[in-house]
Amino acid sequence: MEAVAQEIADRLRATSFVKIVTHIDADGISGGAIASESLARAGIGHEVAFVKKLDEAALLDIKRQGPPLAWFVDLGAGMLHAFHGLDAVITDHHVPTEREIPKALRGDLLRLAESMDRVLMLNPHLEGEGSDVASGAGCAYAVAKALDPGNRDLAAIAVVGAVGDVQDQEFRRLAGYNRTILRDGIDAGVLEATTDIRLFGREPRPVHKLLQYASDPWIPRLSGNEEACIAFLLELGIDLKVEETWRSWSDLDRGEKGRVVSALVAHMLERGCGAREVERLVGEVYTLVKEPVGSPTRDAKEFSTLINACGRYDEADVAYRVCRGDREEYLAKALKLLRGHREYLVDSLDAIAEAGIRQLDAIQYFHTGDKIRDTVVGVAASLALHQTGATTDLPIFAFANAEDGIKVSARTTRDLVAKGLDLAAIMQAASKAVGGQGGGHHAAAGATIPPGSEERFLEIANRMVHAQLSSAVPSAETVRAPENL
Ligand code: C5P
Ligand code: ZN
Repeated sequence: MEAVAQEIADRLRATSFVKIVTHIDADGISGGAIASESLARAGIGHEVAFVKKLDEAALLDIKRQGPPLAWFVDLGAGMLHAFHGLDAVITDHHVPTEREIPKALRGDLLRLAESMDRVLMLNPHLEGEGSDVASGAGCAYAVAKALDPGNRDLAAIAVVGAVGDVQDQEFRRLAGYNRTILRDGIDAGVLEATTDIRLFGREPRPVHKLLQYASDPWIPRLSGNEEACIAFLLELGIDLKVEETWRSWSDLDRGEKGRVVSALVAHMLERGCGAREVERLVGEVYTLVKEPVGSPTRDAKEFSTLINACGRYDEADVAYRVCRGDREEYLAKALKLLRGHREYLVDSLDAIAEAGIRQLDAIQYFHTGDKIRDTVVGVAASLALHQTGATTDLPIFAFANAEDGIKVSARTTRDLVAKGLDLAAIMQAASKAVGGQGGGHHAAAGATIPPGSEERFLEIANRMVHAQLSSAVPSAETVRAPENL
């Protein structure tokens, strides 16, 4: 990967101007920031554009603008077949499509070779690896490091991108090229990796809130129940406050932390959670050590959530500026968007309750129309799965109106995935059958389908879920949980 990164770096150095095109999620935004920062440091003129997705129309638009060189981050691989005519470098970790040979170039090997050479891609799939060894931000980081080894401090933002894409989730630690990035960041004095509780909100939140908002793993009786969390901790003899100030997880000493984790393990096992679920309580966590204690930019997971909260509400630029180092105006704006996101989720749960969750024999679903944004409905579906009115025994399908059709998000538990459920395959096949497009992961997948095709889509999905679970060949494949909040 670093050899390809070097080729890309040479190409960037030789150009007069670069148009960076990146995605609006945490990986895309942090990758865009790394790309931009590395070009700025090298004195290479550039601009950054954010896109929700890279389709034919978006690509055509960029071709029309005709930048001397375009740098695609966290996207591009899925459209590789349509890149002819563009001078581009791509740092992406999605599965690449086959490049097509344009009619005009068939039979003209020389011009064909020239055209092929105009596009260079760094992608773990080309090195025989999977999507999870590096994120879009990690691939952009490889190029930044090739531009200048002094750019190793950017490893911190690259790890935020990887965690934003839940690349630490399957093994509860980063793997593959991500570990090289992590090592670079540790060597550069910007990162630290420690084993700790994996629940979200170790730094700024009162410790009982950490339990209350637990979603991976979901803790029976504690998740979503503030009073029960407070009682649980008090029973263990944990002081929740020092004078008038709430203590956060990071304020607890080692002995207290050990007591809480042991009690959580016993609590979960007693309430029927499997060992695989319980194991998820603890894993590797990543700290951006140059960031102030108590700031959400200090923990990689929280930082990525902060970025996502901006991107989901059309404010990718705010998060981008925070990734580039703004800790004043734009950090304040980002924190406000994060608070807004939390409120939006509470309202979304009300909207779901109002719309009602309906059941077919193998699935449950809701349709909230315009009430929940297409960029948030997946997170809302993950939460709804554990609310009254829903059951964790069935996967949940959520519909929302979107600009380009109906957005569908599907979520399920690790338990059902272990029993053979693969939502990615279902979303892909069922959306294709009704003229849409979809995919994703076993436990969290999405699609866009034509308006009016919801019922037909549900019928197919219901049948497929039924078939997958009754054939009961347990899946040994990658198990991925829904994204954290
Ligand atoms: O949008 P949502 O959060 O539901 O997406 C879950 C997963 O499904 C994501 O990993 C995304 O990449 C994938 N997805 C997809 N095709 C779509 C929408 C989502 O592959 N049209
Ligand atoms: Zn990504």
